[in-house]
Amino acid sequence: METVVYLDNAATTRVDERVAEVMALAMTIDYGNPSSAHRLGIAASRRLETARAAVAQAIGAASEEIYFTSGGTEANALGTLGVAALARGRHAVCSQLEHPSVGDAMKRLAERGWTVTEVGPERSGVVSVEAMAGAVCAETALVALMWVSNELGTVQPVMEVARAVKARAPRAHIHVDAVQALGKLQIDVAEGPIDSLALSAHKIHGPQGAGALWLRRHTRVQSLMVGGGQERGVRPGTQGLPGAVGLGCAVELAARARPEAMVRMAALRSKLITSLRSRLPSLRVNAEGAPHILSLGFPGVPAEPLLHALEARGIYVSAGSACAAKDKRPSGALRAIGVPADVGTIRISLARTTTEAEIDLAARAIGAALGELGHG
Ligand SMILES: Cc1ncc(COP(=O)(O)O)c(C=O)c1O
Repeated sequence: METVVYLDNAATTRVDERVAEVMALAMTIDYGNPSSAHRLGIAASRRLETARAAVAQAIGAASEEIYFTSGGTEANALGTLGVAALARGRHAVCSQLEHPSVGDAMKRLAERGWTVTEVGPERSGVVSVEAMAGAVCAETALVALMWVSNELGTVQPVMEVARAVKARAPRAHIHVDAVQALGKLQIDVAEGPIDSLALSAHKIHGPQGAGALWLRRHTRVQSLMVGGGQERGVRPGTQGLPGAVGLGCAVELAARARPEAMVRMAALRSKLITSLRSRLPSLRVNAEGAPHILSLGFPGVPAEPLLHALEARGIYVSAGSACAAKDKRPSGALRAIGVPADVGTIRISLARTTTEAEIDLAARAIGAALGELGHG
């Protein structure tokens, strides 16, 4: 049988069987529309509210602050464009590391006449609290900062930034993209003055096309769609019950597995780096951060042939990040931390299911692929 070592878990993860099971129940047994008044509708609504409570509990929020969405992208759009639509000021601040679902939302605001200030990270791949706060003025209505970079794995000081920003602009809305942080870091929305948070199910062994927005109570937001009053009008349209239930189950499983999984992933990450360094002393670890995302630079090696050589050996990783994979431009995040253009970068991302044997296979395959390409 063909070897498959899937190390692209920041792009998406395999759905946990237990998640698939509860989703199947929501599709075949409690399949009613959660808005229907009959017994099946009530059963569906109960499942939806149980899932909402699970998501809320995972981040220290109240259930009524959780809005189910079609994923992280939609949650980011609501937390940025949806909030901006009703904001008083017309200045926004974001980091240069943001995922396109936030970065392009900011571009849209600029097209609508907003002034957008982008803050670059330090060489470490982390934005400084002072730089973010320094970009804020009395007019600032929106500040967006991702928690864990999907490309670099770096962890941003979101709560410290939020406190510093609010000290200068108390009315600024602070949106956090927590898609790569969920299930990996301890998230407690009460720890700082943030206002909204985007979550996604498919990075934590839940289904694709499901996510949630946490929106602090009493925050004004304009829905991106119009229609039914579902999700208290913030996200009209029949809820995707299987996805929401899958998200609820996935966050619970991730929370239970997290303490042990993080220690294991950190050990596997170190093992991989040590093993690769012994084969290729010029290897660059582009940034230090959360243990599940590892951005590796290979001086003088173009990323694409390396990726293909790895795929031929059954090793699935990505170049930079999945969103940029079909885009030939060098990644903004890598440029922002000064990775030279001739350094090919691959992103290796682990899951709680990744094994030591898989890491050994990947290390050997990278060595062999580099040899085949005339390096190493
Ligand atoms: C940091 C970050 N934000 C947002 C998203 C978008 O989430 P979704 O795929 O659920 O729309 C991703 C997914 O790649 C991500 O990594």
